[in-house]
Amino acid sequence: MVSTTKKRRSRKKEVVTHTCMVEPFDIAMYHTRDGEGLSSLQQRFGNWLRGLSFPSRFIYWQMPADLRDRIQYVADLARHENDTLKKQILMENRRNYEQLQNAANYHRSFCGIGMWTDDSITSNAVASSVSGSFDTPAYVSPWPKLFEGNYRLSEPHSSFNYWHLRPVGRPGGRMYFAFMSSYEFMPVDWNFFRPLRQVLALPYPLALCIDFPKTWDRNEAISSIEGTLLATKVHLSTTTSEDSKSGKKYIDCKKTLDELNSGDLLHDIQIVIGVAAPDRESLKKACDEITARTKAFFRLRHDVGQQQAKAALFFSDKSTKLIGNEPTTWQVTSREAALLLGPLGYRKLSGLAGTMRGQSADGAFPFFYNSWPKKKIATHEIVVGLTGSGKTFSLNCFLSRQYIEEGVAFDLLEPMGHGKIIAEAVGAPLFTPSAHETNMNPLDIMYPDPTEQVIHVIRLVETMLGRQFSGTQQGNHQKALVGQALARLYGVNRGVDLFSIQTHQTPIIEDLCDELARIEAKSHVQRIARDLADEIAGLCTGAGPYARFVNATTNLDLSFRGKRTPRVFSFNKMSNDPELLAIAYTQVLTAIRRDSLADEVPRTIAVDEVYRLMQHPSLLDFLVEAVKTFRTRRKKVIVIDQQMRVFLSSEKAKLLFENCPIRVVFNQRSGMDVFREHVAFQHLTEQHLQTISSLGRGYFLLDIQDHGVFYLYMKASQAEVSRFGDS
Ligand SMILES: Nc1ncnc2c1ncn2[C@@H]1O[C@H](COP(=O)(O)OP(=O)(O)OP(=O)(O)O)[C@@H](O)[C@H]1O
Ligand SMILES: [Mg+2]
Repeated sequence: MVSTTKKRRSRKKEVVTHTCMVEPFDIAMYHTRDGEGLSSLQQRFGNWLRGLSFPSRFIYWQMPADLRDRIQYVADLARHENDTLKKQILMENRRNYEQLQNAANYHRSFCGIGMWTDDSITSNAVASSVSGSFDTPAYVSPWPKLFEGNYRLSEPHSSFNYWHLRPVGRPGGRMYFAFMSSYEFMPVDWNFFRPLRQVLALPYPLALCIDFPKTWDRNEAISSIEGTLLATKVHLSTTTSEDSKSGKKYIDCKKTLDELNSGDLLHDIQIVIGVAAPDRESLKKACDEITARTKAFFRLRHDVGQQQAKAALFFSDKSTKLIGNEPTTWQVTSREAALLLGPLGYRKLSGLAGTMRGQSADGAFPFFYNSWPKKKIATHEIVVGLTGSGKTFSLNCFLSRQYIEEGVAFDLLEPMGHGKIIAEAVGAPLFTPSAHETNMNPLDIMYPDPTEQVIHVIRLVETMLGRQFSGTQQGNHQKALVGQALARLYGVNRGVDLFSIQTHQTPIIEDLCDELARIEAKSHVQRIARDLADEIAGLCTGAGPYARFVNATTNLDLSFRGKRTPRVFSFNKMSNDPELLAIAYTQVLTAIRRDSLADEVPRTIAVDEVYRLMQHPSLLDFLVEAVKTFRTRRKKVIVIDQQMRVFLSSEKAKLLFENCPIRVVFNQRSGMDVFREHVAFQHLTEQHLQTISSLGRGYFLLDIQDHGVFYLYMKASQAEVSRFGDS
């Protein structure tokens, strides 16, 4: 009976076991025309191996995967949905998942690194050396079990003529397993893709182990190889017949010596491949196919007797020594062994939780990402891409999927007018403030704290006046006077709770002007107050240019508190009026802020064409503050514009950038300089950069800090294309 769960009992106390999981990355991003990219990756893996001084192991396994759980989840939602529009979208989304499912074979995979060291090394040190060397996240974690339940060693059988493991107990649905070990390597050049990629493309549950039970001391290795070299030389000089095998061996030894002399180490390695199948016939077929795909590169033998049972332990945290199988290792230099770690770069379907963000550019898996993990952090995003590259279309797909399938509502703010498309699609109220029909009272209560509320109103007044108060002595007086007038209007000195003031009771600009004019102070200050009252009144009351919009009680209900409905704000009717537009944005954003901070209900706030906002210093301040404070209230901010450069153009804009750990990059044909120069993009490969500069419509890189860079395509369903195709 074999069980990988049995606790390891080390004979020698000082052996410490470390296991970690490693996030796979996308090896296609190292494909450059000149081959440099892959050589640099080989170099990087090789460097890690050149530092090995303890027995180590790389394991990779994959299971065929499918979208059934997601399909079921969406089907259940549809069944319980009463709203006809939502129900219809859920059914469309379900059909989309079904079509994806039928069009491809998906896999799910897992990568792990293990090391058995003395007690001078911690597991964290192992994980960080792995993530540092491979440039992909790695974290200390036990490895998942290769199989559950009890298994029995089975002798060769008429339908599978080798030793294998069969499930016992309640075998319902559990698989048969067979393990094969390498015993000879062919003198053929390997690369990152051949032969392992072909093997791992097979549609079986497969487990691959590259075991490094020993790394030689360099001098020992050199003298051992020199010994072989000498023996081969002697053999060649004494045989008269043509002996190509020995000739090749001689050349190999010389090459190995060169590699050792240039810094490589020599590793004993063993490959173990496990495969699972529902019955013995399928197991045979799978083993035959694996053997056929590897035989030009290395020979595999079926482990016999107890060795078959023990081979499964290569996928547990047991050290090679304790497993105790008869070694059939092969000696390989660091740079050659590096190629065996290629599967780290074969990314597969990683999970079905969250929202489907797109499909890998090669179609190998749909990518789901959950922005709403249990902990409170919401992860903000920056989206960039040149005009027509597909930002708005993708955003619409994302927001509607997330709303319909996960119940996360959103606010979308955009200045072009395309907002009505998604509003209609998901039945969201559409707000289109206009200078002729809308009233937005700048004195509306947005902050519970009187000081913050006063600062907020002063900013709006400054926007209308087109100047800031600060700087001069007169300006300082004006600011203080407005503050004084507001405090009286709001009843701050009477201890009035600002949030108790209803919209229809809120003072308006006219009241502010009257109050300013009434202020009693030294005559020169009083004059400043009256002049300011006149100045504001001239612009904002009576026949003043802003009066129609600002000098009245607000007639748009901007509150969403306690509601989970999405909303869309299209500002296209205000595009001629930069000051009014700024006021409208400020009031809407401030109201969103007010209600966002009131609870921890997940919500997304997306701002398209954010560059226009950033031209108003106070709105940029606002966005910066929003990204900092919203996160812990589970509000996700998405800011969208054409150029990444926009987000690196000033110190404040950089704050926005730094607080957005997810970057969604559509085509940046022009504007590549920041990607080459800014440290935040150092992790991108040359291939990433080439890709960014030539992405087709709908293609993008999804760069998630501490998680990975994904090259995706926003594959939309038929229904989504017909809903959103006119963005
Ligand atoms: N993934 C996609 N699948 C199908 N059609 C798409 C996709 N992405 C974009 N399109 C089409 O391309 C058009 C332009 O895309 P979109 O409006 O999203 O560009 P944009 O990046 O927002 O441009 P702008 O900066 O000008 O707003 C869309 O109207 C849509 O018809
Ligand atoms: Mg757009």
